[in-house]
Amino acid sequence: MMDLSQIQQKDEKDPLLKFKTRFFHPENELYFDGNSLGKLPLKSKKMLNEIIQNQWGERLIRSWNENWLFLPKRIASKYAQLLGTENGEICIGESTSVRLYQILYALLSSNLFHKNLTTDILNFPTDLYIIEGLKKAFQIPQITVVKYPNEIEADIEILKNSIKENPGIICLSMVSYKSAFFYPVQLLNRWAAKYNSIIVWDLSHAVGAVAINLKVAEVKIALGCTYKYMNGGPGAPAFLFVNNDLQPNLFNPIQGWFGHHRPFDFNMNFIPADGIDRFASGTPSVLSIAGIEAGIDLVLEAGIEEIRLKSTSQSDFFLKAAEEELIPIGFSIESPIDPNQRGSHVTLSHSASWQICQALMAGSKSYPKIIPDYRPPYFIRFGITPLYTSYEDIWILVNTLKTIVTKKAYLNFCSKKKNVT
Ligand SMILES: Cc1ncc(COP(=O)(O)O)c(C=O)c1O
Repeated sequence: MMDLSQIQQKDEKDPLLKFKTRFFHPENELYFDGNSLGKLPLKSKKMLNEIIQNQWGERLIRSWNENWLFLPKRIASKYAQLLGTENGEICIGESTSVRLYQILYALLSSNLFHKNLTTDILNFPTDLYIIEGLKKAFQIPQITVVKYPNEIEADIEILKNSIKENPGIICLSMVSYKSAFFYPVQLLNRWAAKYNSIIVWDLSHAVGAVAINLKVAEVKIALGCTYKYMNGGPGAPAFLFVNNDLQPNLFNPIQGWFGHHRPFDFNMNFIPADGIDRFASGTPSVLSIAGIEAGIDLVLEAGIEEIRLKSTSQSDFFLKAAEEELIPIGFSIESPIDPNQRGSHVTLSHSASWQICQALMAGSKSYPKIIPDYRPPYFIRFGITPLYTSYEDIWILVNTLKTIVTKKAYLNFCSKKKNVT
């Protein structure tokens, strides 16, 4: 592995280094969990304080017209810029799970596609649960969960074959939460379209992590959370993209007043709003929506192409160091090696991974606290977040993992996991 001075030179040359100071950092702690919950942008703290004090405190109900009614749209247009879509194709609000239920329900009711629901084994559990629920609601005899020879990457031929055999509605995570596998999005969309099928893409682990232009990739529907690489805060609302051409034929199953054509007429008959607005239901959660604006602003300012370049360079550096220093002491790599097939986290496994995670989080006199992301049974995910991860952070991480294992420091920790996170 390179020595520390070489690593520090890499940091000095990094055009994104300056963004690190735009976030809050607890002392003596390295954070590798931006793939679960991103750090707090300093500007979010300021903006939320001002909204609470002035807009909520002073202006009260007047703030709806002055600021809040337009807030979700303003942020949606920033997400449109990031994802290469038009304005009026993205809306903000609700959780990813609720958005997924809403849009799959709308698709199943539309009769635009066969009522076959497919997902794969790499998808995040909530997506599977939502699909299971819809299977019951629509009395669909069975759903397809495509399996592959391993859980690191999708076998694209197996997936394509499944779409051909069972055309309909397919839900996939663009970047898998387990291994960070990044699907060939355009290729699969074209294949799906050929069989009159649609892929609903969950971008939770992709947005802010990979450079994706939804139009170029021929995505028709996508959604995702904003609290990971977008640094929108705990439980931050999701975004939903519905391509213009599909909007007139899709209807929100939760037809609340905010999705009405003219909500403030208080008409007793429901007439859906035109376009993406029909996917609103109730009053927007102003504070949590406001909390995501500083995060998207930072990503737009840094530029997603630049972020992606640094992410692949840092992940490659980490993987190379892992091969040299960590595989010989019992670790395995559980992420794709090819950067074109990988998002922005790197997954390792070890037979003592839970004990190693606890040792990392506890820190010691010779190394800082390091926050990783444990996933049972043996996986440790490390989120590479180019806006605040430095090469030196990764260098310290690799050396700390090596010390914990070679000095057997992990044996001081319990092998059974008790708490929920
Ligand atoms: C791919 C994916 N989809 C959905 C979710 C959950 O989203 P929410 O809690 O906003 O419903 C997560 C959470 O980590 C996720 O990784």
